Amino acid sequence: MRTFINVEDIGDLRQALAEAEEIKKDRYKYQELGKNKTLLMIFFNNSLRTRLSTQKAATNLGMNVIVLDVNAGAWKLETERGVIMDGDKSEHLLEAIPVMGCYCDVIGMRSFAGLTDREYDYAETVLHQFIKYSGRPVFAMETATVHPLQAFADLITIEEHKTKARPKVVLTWAPHCRALPQAVPNSFAQWMNAADVDFVITHPEGYELDPKFVGNARVEYDQMKALEGADFVYAKNWSCPGVTNATDYGKIISKDMSWTIDEAHMAVTDNGKFMHCLPVRRGLIVTDDVIESPNSLVIPEAANREISAQVVIKRILENM
Ligand code: CP
Repeated sequence: MRTFINVEDIGDLRQALAEAEEIKKDRYKYQELGKNKTLLMIFFNNSLRTRLSTQKAATNLGMNVIVLDVNAGAWKLETERGVIMDGDKSEHLLEAIPVMGCYCDVIGMRSFAGLTDREYDYAETVLHQFIKYSGRPVFAMETATVHPLQAFADLITIEEHKTKARPKVVLTWAPHCRALPQAVPNSFAQWMNAADVDFVITHPEGYELDPKFVGNARVEYDQMKALEGADFVYAKNWSCPGVTNATDYGKIISKDMSWTIDEAHMAVTDNGKFMHCLPVRRGLIVTDDVIESPNSLVIPEAANREISAQVVIKRILENM
C-alpha cells in the first residue's frame, strides 16, 4: 500500500479486521518494521485524536515521528498556482512538499475542505499534490472529502460490539452551530457499504451526500423511521454537500434540533449503541444522557484510532 485514502486501499476487510485484532493483542510485535524510518505528520487543521493515536501507532512500530503544525510555526503556505505571492504566504506548497519529503519516509496529512469551492474540495487538490510531489507514501489523516482512519476505527468498533451477524447501522445527520466538512460521513458511508451490515443514512432534505459515497445505502428522510431497530447509531453533522443544490455547498441549511440524538431517539432502536467520531458538541448532536450511557461507544472508537493507524502504517512499511 502506497496511499491510504479510500476503503479499496486496505483490500479485503476481513483480513484488515483480523490484522487489527492481532495488533490489539500485541501492539509491539512489529517494532523492527519501523526501525530507522520516520513518519512526518502534517496538520493544516486542529486535531486531538488523530495526532495522538497516529503518533502512538507509529512509535509502536518502532518509527521516529515528526509532527508539523503548518499554521503554528511553519511558513504560511500558498496552495494555488498562478498567484502573485505578495500577501502573508511566504512559501509555496509545491516547494514545501518535496522539501518535507526529504526528511521522512512516510507522510500522514490533514487538510480540511475549504467549503467554498466544491470542485476544488472534491478534487482533493492538496492531497494529490502531496502524493505527486513528496516522493513518499501518503496516508489521509482527514482530507477535504475523506477520513478513512476514522472509518476503519469505527468498523473495528462495530465488529467488536455487534451481537448479530449483520447489524443495522444508521448514519444520522444532527444539528450543529458551525459548517462542518463531509469527510467523516463520506468515509463512514464508503466503509459501511463495503462491510457486511444493513446500512441506512438519514438526514433532512438537501443534505444528500455525494452519490459515490452513498453507494447502495438506503436513504430515509424520516429519522425516527430510520432508527427503528438500529443496532448502531452513528451521529454526525455535515454541511450541505451541494449535490441537489450546488449553490448551497458548505452552508448550514438546517438547524432542526429535533434531530439531536436523545433518549427518545435511542428508545426506538434495538438497544442500539451510540457512536460519534469526536469532538462532539453536547446538546446539539447528542444529549448528555445518551453520550454518558453504557451504550455509548465514543471512547472505544477513539481508542481504536491507534489500531486503525497501526494497521495502515504497518501495511505501508511492509510495502517499502
Ligand atoms: N475524530 C478525529 O479525527 O478527531 P481529531 O479531529 O481530534 O483528530
